[in-house]
Amino acid sequence: MKKTFLSLLLLCSLPVLSQDNGQDTFVQNLLSQMTLEEKIGQLNLSAGEDFSTGQAQSTNIAGKIKNGQITGIFNIKGVDKIREMQRIAVEESRLKIPLIFGMDVIHGYETVFPIPLGLASTWNMEAIEQSARIAALEASADGIHWTFSPMVDIARDPRWGRIAEGSGEDPFLGGAVAQAMVKGYQGDNTYTGNDRIMACVKHYALYGASEAGRDYNTVDMSRIRMFNEYMYPYQAAVEAGAESVMASFNEVDGVPATANKWLMTDILRNTWHLKGFIVTDYTGIEEMTAHGIGDLQTVSARALDAGIDMDMVSEGFLSTLAQSFKEGKITEEQINTACYRVLVAKYKLGLFTDPYKFCDTQRAKTQIYTPEHRSIARKIAAESFVLLKNADDVLPLKKQGTIAVIGPMANTRSNILGAWSVSADLSKPATLVEGLKEVSGKNTRIVYAKGSNLTEDAEYEKRSTGTGHTLYRDNQTNEQLLNEALSAAQKADVIVAALGEASEMSGESSSRTDLNIPDVQQDLLKALLKTGKPVVLVLFTGRPLTLTWEQENVPAILNVWHGGSEAAGAIGDVLFGDVNPGGKLVATFPKNVGQIPLYYNHKNTGRPLPEGKWFEKYRSNYLDVDNEPLYPFGYGLSYTQFEYSDVKLSSSTMEANGNLTASVTVTNKGQRAGAEVVQLYIRDREGSVTRPVKELKGFEKVFIEAGQSKEITFQITPGLLKFYNYHLEYVLEPGEFDVMIGGNSRDVKTIRFTLH
Ligand code: BGC
Repeated sequence: MKKTFLSLLLLCSLPVLSQDNGQDTFVQNLLSQMTLEEKIGQLNLSAGEDFSTGQAQSTNIAGKIKNGQITGIFNIKGVDKIREMQRIAVEESRLKIPLIFGMDVIHGYETVFPIPLGLASTWNMEAIEQSARIAALEASADGIHWTFSPMVDIARDPRWGRIAEGSGEDPFLGGAVAQAMVKGYQGDNTYTGNDRIMACVKHYALYGASEAGRDYNTVDMSRIRMFNEYMYPYQAAVEAGAESVMASFNEVDGVPATANKWLMTDILRNTWHLKGFIVTDYTGIEEMTAHGIGDLQTVSARALDAGIDMDMVSEGFLSTLAQSFKEGKITEEQINTACYRVLVAKYKLGLFTDPYKFCDTQRAKTQIYTPEHRSIARKIAAESFVLLKNADDVLPLKKQGTIAVIGPMANTRSNILGAWSVSADLSKPATLVEGLKEVSGKNTRIVYAKGSNLTEDAEYEKRSTGTGHTLYRDNQTNEQLLNEALSAAQKADVIVAALGEASEMSGESSSRTDLNIPDVQQDLLKALLKTGKPVVLVLFTGRPLTLTWEQENVPAILNVWHGGSEAAGAIGDVLFGDVNPGGKLVATFPKNVGQIPLYYNHKNTGRPLPEGKWFEKYRSNYLDVDNEPLYPFGYGLSYTQFEYSDVKLSSSTMEANGNLTASVTVTNKGQRAGAEVVQLYIRDREGSVTRPVKELKGFEKVFIEAGQSKEITFQITPGLLKFYNYHLEYVLEPGEFDVMIGGNSRDVKTIRFTLH
């Protein structure tokens, strides 16, 4: 009853919809009634009180909403709170313009999926889309209609904690994931119902290339590298119809992205044709004063001029644009354009028709964290795990005997979720111990000991377990903790060591220079191995770690990332063989930190190392470690084995307007059915500029029964062979190309063709 009344009230007091009911007419009409201050207010986004990642916070939010000085709020949770803020906007502000509500719904809402790096490791685009679809369903049921996702920054440096939030090092795969996520959130972009949310592609651009892997650090790269290796995922997301884009914190070509007109206007708007709006990152405008390009008024005007439409948290637009307008530094048309784009987004969402469209309290009660969503999340989590080693078939475990589950990650709920699980209830996920008990059943005894803290240094542990993700540091000595672990291990037939990173040890502002499993945990692992019992390392991590010692000494390693709210059961499903693991790495695991950046799609140099050698004087190599990664891009084992044979091309030549078919037979040689990610790489052997030694250009995930074979085919089209040349023209150049097919980027079978 109340809802109808409010909507009517709103409609009466807003500009009357034109006869064609058109978006443009409506928004232009509304704009024509707005004061300059009200227009600027529509460009100002405020952080809610629930969660923040920076310093500045707007005060007196309610007062500002009434004054028309806030366009939307992000990271507040709860439909009641959202409804109340919306009420203030549509009942108490002059023009009654509804607010937009955003949130970092990054890998699920309350049903949490694996961190994005894990999600990408499924190589299953339907599953990724489904995870975004469920995230949209749950978030929209709780009042949210805009998410700051997908994060599509290419990252080749695992020191950077935010590698956890993206799809790893490859632009082709990254573009596919970006499109799947946009589709999952937005559907067909009509927002006719109330269960789709707008996506925001971030962080544009090149944020993942920060120097030394230190967060927010300087980026400097050639344009040819940008376009061939980093830009595609942003472009792909825009092409998939993403409604908004977030500017990155870093500089690009010496100008912070937030004020970079070439980036925002020439490329994003004029070349890729973004239709939606551009928002800054958290205090992105204010931070440009620290970058050293001017005071708040100057940088705010520069951001608007560059093409930014919405200011997140800085209040630089709010506090200075009117003055800049008076001084002739910006035009009203620029403000109108930005305001228009923001209002169009609200219109498209349907907020002018019903500002409470996403405030249905019944949905909030029944559609969040449902058994159905959770069972899908469990399946996807299991699919994201990567089996790194399995000597002597230690895995899968039998559902019998005694299993000692040992380590600081064995008995935690909040740390199983992963970074950016801001909307989850941290107390809900099962612990690994609980998950293993559930799956292993009555005939198995599970014993537990913590064994060690996360890190020796209590302060380091504190920094790595913030925002509620505590590991409840144990004040016993290392020796006491170890003794407890060894006595639990004595009782066991098998040891499961649950080690690695806590949730907040990767993600934003969590860069590391040492990528080993932390000190006390390694000591624990060594002591457990000395018992002589079989040890399975269940590795929790948000990034590639350096596992050289572990690879040599631990019989089985299952990398489970941070698998989300249903991870514990999913780990049980895989450890006990109910699910056969099939995840494949999307970021290279180096042997040591000194090899970084290490990525599969590198250039050859003029002095490449001859095949089969690991050092030769005056070649491009190191004295102390070979050039190879520990685990290459695309790598991951299964409980079965796949064999590749009959790699063929439909022809050894291709015309510039033609195409080719590449095919391969994949046979499951083992005893179990399983999924394999068949990967196709291409190398351009002679270009007008140097080209990478291989680039992913196709993949297919296939399920093959034991003993069966499948033929997989890939179409090689001219589009797959194009690249940006020295003049940044996107070209197809004739010459020889290698086609490589295999189950990872290293172990491939090669065949060649010539493009005429
Ligand atoms: C992060 C963004 C995030 C924003 C809002 C920033 O610190 O860089 O990824 O969307 O905060 O929470």
